[in-house]
Amino acid sequence: MPIFYNSETKEFHLQAKDVSYIFKILKNNQLGHLYYGKKLRHRDSFHHLYREEFRDNSTHVFEGDQTFSLDQLKQEYPAYGTTDFREPAYQILQENGSRITNFEYKEHKIYSGKPRLEGLPAVYAEEKDEVTTLEITLYDSLIQAEIKLLYTVYESFNVITRSAKFSNNGSEQLNLTRALSASVDFFDSDFEMIHLSGSWARERHVKVRKLEQGVQRIASARGTSSAHQNPFLAMKRPDTNEQQGEVYGFSFVYSGNFLAQIEVDHFDVTRVQMGINPFDFNWLLDTGEAFQTPEVVMVYSDAGLNGMSQTYHELYRTRLARGSWRDKQRPILINNWEGTYFNFDEEKILSIAEESKKLGVELFVLDDGWFGKRDDDTTSLGDWFVDERKLPNGITGLANKITDLGLNFGLWFEPEMISKVSKLYEAHPDWLLQVPDRRLSSGRSQYVLDFSRKEVVDYIFEVMAETLREAPITYVKWDMNRYMTEIGSNELPADRQREVAHRYILGVYDLYERLTTAFPEILFESCASGGSRFDPGMLYYAPQAWTSDDTDAVERLKIQYGTSFVYPLSSIGAHVSAVPNHQVGRTTSLETRGNVAYFGDFGYELDITQLTEAEREIIKEQIIFYKANRELIQKGTFHRMQSPFEGNVTSWMVVSDDQTEAIVGRYQVLNQPHPGYDRLLLTGLNADFEYQIEGKEGTYYGDELMHAGIHLDKTNSDYSSQIFKLRKR
Ligand code: DGJ
Repeated sequence: MPIFYNSETKEFHLQAKDVSYIFKILKNNQLGHLYYGKKLRHRDSFHHLYREEFRDNSTHVFEGDQTFSLDQLKQEYPAYGTTDFREPAYQILQENGSRITNFEYKEHKIYSGKPRLEGLPAVYAEEKDEVTTLEITLYDSLIQAEIKLLYTVYESFNVITRSAKFSNNGSEQLNLTRALSASVDFFDSDFEMIHLSGSWARERHVKVRKLEQGVQRIASARGTSSAHQNPFLAMKRPDTNEQQGEVYGFSFVYSGNFLAQIEVDHFDVTRVQMGINPFDFNWLLDTGEAFQTPEVVMVYSDAGLNGMSQTYHELYRTRLARGSWRDKQRPILINNWEGTYFNFDEEKILSIAEESKKLGVELFVLDDGWFGKRDDDTTSLGDWFVDERKLPNGITGLANKITDLGLNFGLWFEPEMISKVSKLYEAHPDWLLQVPDRRLSSGRSQYVLDFSRKEVVDYIFEVMAETLREAPITYVKWDMNRYMTEIGSNELPADRQREVAHRYILGVYDLYERLTTAFPEILFESCASGGSRFDPGMLYYAPQAWTSDDTDAVERLKIQYGTSFVYPLSSIGAHVSAVPNHQVGRTTSLETRGNVAYFGDFGYELDITQLTEAEREIIKEQIIFYKANRELIQKGTFHRMQSPFEGNVTSWMVVSDDQTEAIVGRYQVLNQPHPGYDRLLLTGLNADFEYQIEGKEGTYYGDELMHAGIHLDKTNSDYSSQIFKLRKR
């Protein structure tokens, strides 16, 4: 068992392949943290890692004991108000106004397997034996409340997951005003914080900053995880880079408002915390009720940022994504959005589908505009009935025709939204998120349905299921195009209004669960104005996501590079679109657009009927290439080499598990006059294997490719790119 408990020293030691996580029961019966990092061999006592001594200017837990102050100790799941002045993991407001609690160790269990978190996405185990769980019960006897801390160790992945569950067994109502999922204290602060930040169309840009005393935080209060901050942060040592060094990753399996923060205290102790954003949140716990927090996935790597990312990729691809599509090769699709926007009819759609089929595309996706009277974005959301002006044979008729062409058919929905100009709004104006007597702010002329209400979710399930039952649909794109404002529900009492944002997300998860259960063969792709909800919570239901509305190849280098910090290539939707690019106006070659989009779930998003013969030939070749290499791209080990955030050149590669095959992408944004030696150093190969590079003479050993590199020819244009396919001889 990779979890030890020593009843003498009252220490817990969690061990995975290369990592140890150690904490103990303190003398006030609460939990104190001792160590998280490179694996330590187990020993009888780690007491030497514990420090208790008198310090000036402290407050103390026990009268007469001047050495025991929580402010000076590393904590495991800290509370505020009893000598620790740093940010707490939780807080409970009681009926008498007190916010002070005393949760003491009561008992623990260690067992194989991992319990489900009810109603929430979480990583899972396929075999019971691949994980071990530690469940610690803390108890506050005054209010008769319980906190269950859950730790699961994935031995072969270097992963530890954490969550907490609060239960009220007493007679008074408890008000949970903060309930984070995890908190970890580190000895020192010699770290840099990495986070993925941005905005619409430039999601998940990599940001790095040095830690300083005080709090550094990222968060979302937009109702979704957001394009602005991703629910992820990492702490790396200053000399850690892509290939080497220590890094700790924290990723939150949640799609709503979150907080991820690092506090460096007066002793340079660093506290990392992650959970539901406490801002504008509370949760009332009546007698007998419980609250389960979402899960944090902690990854330790001493093999650089790539090491961390590769762990997340494998874990999320095989133990977070679920269902029949988890391990299947993802189809090459064409989506009509950028090709037609709202302006299409059956004939136009069929002409795109026919041409796509000829070029090798496998799936046609009909995007926004097929329902109600949706000629632009001001109407019809909620009216999930076909617009017969555009599609006289209905979705079923169209889907049948497309299926007859030999293509699969996919359909776009935006289930969580409602337009005021819609039949649904006429029937249910109270179904919007809203607060009494205040103006409602709009976004893209639309409003948010109150998914905290079961009847709303029930209705949307039924109306979507009707279409999905009737037509041969193999793929659904689930979009979500505005952030939430005036968050409130007509159904809940005043003192539960701050529960709405979280209840909403539970409603979204419920609908996903029901749809994926009822239609297990459908591939779901999540989307939120592109990448505004690209998070692990979504990946549990939808194994791929539309990465960004920005399809420009140059912008995509940054977006896909940043996204790959946490998310596997099999989740990264990447399409070739028309030029000049619709988002930034840039013109790049069809080759470069393809060479960037290969590193994800490949597809096209343009009016393929408008292309020249020469362009169609290129597309044919691209599709042949992707089909031949899709297994490797979607399941191989991804390595980042050169970062678009650091220079003019980006490079990355994907290597098969047995290291016999690899595909390398190299991209140069601006051309340079009179360049010196241009080499591309590879990584992740077997030093002793002899490789052939497609289209190049001779063979090269892995060591040469990794240390001397591939020597590159001069290029003649901006936005140039190259793909190298390596095969062991
Ligand atoms: C936003 C999505 O990201 C796009 O791909 C497209 O589906 C539009 N919405 C449709 O309104």
